[in-house]
Amino acid sequence: MYDTEILKIDERSLELAKKYILSGELVAFPTETVYGLGALATDDGAIRKIYEAKGRPSDNPLIVHVYDGYDIERLVKIGNDYAKRLAKAYIPGPLTMVYKSKGIVSKVATCGLDTVGIRVPSDENAQRFLRAVGVPIAAPSANASKHTSPVTAMHVYEDLKGKIPLILDGGKCAGGIESTVLDVTGETPVILRSGLVTGEMIERIVGNCEYSKNLPTDKARAPGMKYRHYTPKCETALFKRDETEKAKRLYSEYEKAGKRACYLCDNELAEKLDGNKLLLGRTGEEIAANLYDKLHEAEKITDILIAFEVDTGSDIDVGIMNRLTKACDGARFIP
Ligand code: TXA
Ligand code: MG
Repeated sequence: MYDTEILKIDERSLELAKKYILSGELVAFPTETVYGLGALATDDGAIRKIYEAKGRPSDNPLIVHVYDGYDIERLVKIGNDYAKRLAKAYIPGPLTMVYKSKGIVSKVATCGLDTVGIRVPSDENAQRFLRAVGVPIAAPSANASKHTSPVTAMHVYEDLKGKIPLILDGGKCAGGIESTVLDVTGETPVILRSGLVTGEMIERIVGNCEYSKNLPTDKARAPGMKYRHYTPKCETALFKRDETEKAKRLYSEYEKAGKRACYLCDNELAEKLDGNKLLLGRTGEEIAANLYDKLHEAEKITDILIAFEVDTGSDIDVGIMNRLTKACDGARFIP
């Protein structure tokens, strides 16, 4: 058991973070997407602690974070010219690129795959942390496996207190949903997980890209996509935008049974609904930035969260709906 400390990011806390990381301990840190749970990427023992602290399935690989300017060819082979162009356009930022590994990163982190995902966060606090430690950091999102991803230091604390020594507090994450995971080992890039760097943005640079379907029957290319994910600790339901009447019936059933109900929707749809509501905002960017924070809030204030499909017309909707569907127990919509 650890007496978990939450410290604002400054010279002293970064010095402490470096000490922990270099001695094989875990440190949680902010990024522009969600908080990460970091360990030295070359240390098998340290990486095992990540899987233990999260309760993460051992066949779901971790991505490796490096500071801006780090020579990633120390870790991976860049086989494609288009990968370099993508990096130039969108990195640092919320884009993880999966390359052929050179075998330096721990096999525990890559789960024995011959590839590694590399991410260079754009968040200034993440950069300060990565520069201070000076080594590649393997990090998944800093939540208990299956739970909603953390976008504040307090979310990390609620899931991992006692299990890790240090959480670096950089305030609320700006982006809100995890990075786009892109396989760049083939002739055409393949989106394994959608995020804020959208398919359209990738096509603009490369000309084309594919979407991995990650069907349960497929051998999942991003192994993490097959697991239950992002779920808040309350009941959930997910409705289409034109199903407000159905949703209202469910809401009143809960109220009649003496239970608490709450809607989760964008500001436009909220005008059609009476009762408790958690509002996500209007644009794709706003909704992505608010989603996990509202899911965390929901589990504190309601017995059932009645969520609605998001359709802002933005490409980011794909990433948002991927998370929201899984958060609502995998049911895309209520039948
Ligand atoms: O924004 C983010 O990406 C955050 C922050 C902390 O950087 N991290 C994050 O990590 O979301 P995690 O572990 O929760 O999700 C990483 C995803 C998983 O779906 C995993 O299966 C996939 O990336 N992945 C990792 N390495 C891979 C590889 N070599 N090949 C294919 N998929 C990989
Ligand atoms: Mg995660």
